[in-house]
Amino acid sequence: MTPKTLTALVEEKTLHGSFVRDEDERPKVAYNEFSTEIPVISLAGIDEVEGRRAEICKKIVEACEDWGVFQVVDHGVDAALISNMSRLAREFFALPPEEKLRFDMSGGKKGGFIVSSHLQGEAVNDWREIVTYFSYPLRHRDYSRWPDKPEGWIAVTEEYSEKLMGLACKLLEVLSEAMGLEKEALTKACVDMDQKVVINYYPKCPQPDLTLGLKRHTDPGTITLLLQDQVGGLQATRDGGNTWITVQPVEGAFVVNLGDHGHYLSNGRFRNADHQAVVNSNYSRLSIATFQNPAPEATVYPLKIREGEKSILEEPITFAEMYRRKMSKDIELARLKKLAKEKQLQDLENAKHHDQSKPIERIVA
Ligand code: OGA
Ligand code: NI
Repeated sequence: MTPKTLTALVEEKTLHGSFVRDEDERPKVAYNEFSTEIPVISLAGIDEVEGRRAEICKKIVEACEDWGVFQVVDHGVDAALISNMSRLAREFFALPPEEKLRFDMSGGKKGGFIVSSHLQGEAVNDWREIVTYFSYPLRHRDYSRWPDKPEGWIAVTEEYSEKLMGLACKLLEVLSEAMGLEKEALTKACVDMDQKVVINYYPKCPQPDLTLGLKRHTDPGTITLLLQDQVGGLQATRDGGNTWITVQPVEGAFVVNLGDHGHYLSNGRFRNADHQAVVNSNYSRLSIATFQNPAPEATVYPLKIREGEKSILEEPITFAEMYRRKMSKDIELARLKKLAKEKQLQDLENAKHHDQSKPIERIVA
């Protein structure tokens, strides 16, 4: 049984078994062994059509083709707003468990607090707690699911959501243009863009080498903007999980990554970043992910298929269907993994019996 919050486990010397991952899933690179491979791009002058715009766009497009991840600075989101948002988020996770659990979303409630593992119903749990809001479209806002503590949080979150929606749309304009389409092409393909804010809190972990804060995944949506603190822990791979890099935290920057929807719309030209989060025993870590997703009924299909290319999707599907397929593939992979593990155990067991029977065989022979 996993406790309802992680608070109780942080002081333990060994990791609770439900968080222990198979060896092949465990971290390969330390949380603070930073790489500078992911470009940090200044957006200063992005609106100057005659000026820096072309150069900035080129860098963004290259990063999307290369990793599907980049960082942006000089992005126009007020530093005071960012620091208020982070401070209030930290204060929320520092509340006593019973306060956090007033907003418990287990059982399918839309928004609130949860230990992430309870959400996914996975065999191995992620070492994180989250609080999440559905912020756009406006008609989907359900303030009864937005924590009322710490004070002032709702107003700050609203402003943060609005500013990040603006920044995301600006970045999607760049990608639309790079595809040779009108500026609004990608946002239009989202029909009525949806935004979900997930605040991840990764407590200090007694045995970080055995577990993950958030297991390897690609984000399903169009584009994600992540604000992370200075601790480090976000990792990316572009060779299917063989080698990993830890993204260097940059004060005040957003890490931008593309999701599956962005990948499909570009017919695979832009990568859906393959990433995970690792934890450590020295510091707790906070990150705020803002997911920009299409409406569930939006069509997922390449907006542009370049000369000589084939569509990477057989047929147009809705985003809801794309998500359903992604989830069932994940479940199937987890099932196969479990089967393989059971077989391995069984083989070991058989081998043991075989060894024991050896002396008898010798006697008989
Ligand atoms: C996510 C995510 C990474 C991090 O929330 O989808 O990838 O560093 N977060 O918290
Ligand atoms: Ni992610």
